[in-house]
Amino acid sequence: MDAGVTVRVPAKVNVQLAVGAARPDGFHDLANVFLAVSLFDEVTVTPADELTVTCSGPDADQVPLDRTNLAARAAELLAARAGRPDSAVHIHIAKNIPVAGGMAGGSADGAGALLACDLLWGLDTPTGELLDICAELGSDVPFSLIGGAALGTGRGELLTPVGAGAFHWVFAVAEGGLSTPAVFREFDRLAEGRDVPEPQASPALLAALASGDPDALAATLANDLQPAALSLRPELQRTLTAGTEAGALAGLVSGSGPTTAFLVRDEEAAAKVAAALEASGTCRATRTTTSPAPGATAV
Ligand code: C5P
Repeated sequence: MDAGVTVRVPAKVNVQLAVGAARPDGFHDLANVFLAVSLFDEVTVTPADELTVTCSGPDADQVPLDRTNLAARAAELLAARAGRPDSAVHIHIAKNIPVAGGMAGGSADGAGALLACDLLWGLDTPTGELLDICAELGSDVPFSLIGGAALGTGRGELLTPVGAGAFHWVFAVAEGGLSTPAVFREFDRLAEGRDVPEPQASPALLAALASGDPDALAATLANDLQPAALSLRPELQRTLTAGTEAGALAGLVSGSGPTTAFLVRDEEAAAKVAAALEASGTCRATRTTTSPAPGATAV
């Protein structure tokens, strides 16, 4: 068999997610502070007769294996852009990021497949062009490519890297997923009749993120989608309470949810909070991680 290329790509948490009013195109302007965490999918591409996708891992049965998978779309878009006659590769996703969990797992696979195909086909596409393809794939995909920490504006695809010290996190994986469009629709419903301000990055949050001070970051974490996610999944409040009662400095819904993220002081606190969350019966599983993590990287 021909040699393949494997790319490792991180999950994200949004430490600030400020959401504006719905735009005419249906998207929402955001001030979205992304942070990559050390929880990774691995995407391997190998030459094949046609474009196929397989997936392994505990949630593999929830991953679409057809052309709606962002990894498959990434291969098709890159082949078209490069003028290749076809996008015939086998894509295997070793999935570790929760599916439909608000941690950009699908976006990670899109960015991973894009870089892996670029390397396999020897295209050496400039990063700016790869980022354009990522933005076409989805609002969170450009960040999955670059990783680290970044402010996303527009619909989240226009990125400016920001400074980030090291932090420890515990993630509580919920039963079932949540649809991102449904959470944004619920945001719109809850905002009806109210003036939604222009989304702005918080200077206090950016300073706390850069400082590496977990107490300062805990005091500034904010997710405008959290009320919408809680409205659709009220039981997530019990998970948030269980995590903070176990000693997390702060807890919030990760992106559009339903995964919840807990900022903790250190590795010891992470183990304690994870054990308490598992024992609480308010989540399906936990993951302990650190941030920031690098973006898509060949392994
Ligand atoms: O960009 P992406 O395909 O990931 O977005 C999925 C859905 O999430 C969009 O169709 C839209 O409903 C919602 N969304 C939004 N505003 C954003 C990003 C996503 O309303 N900035």
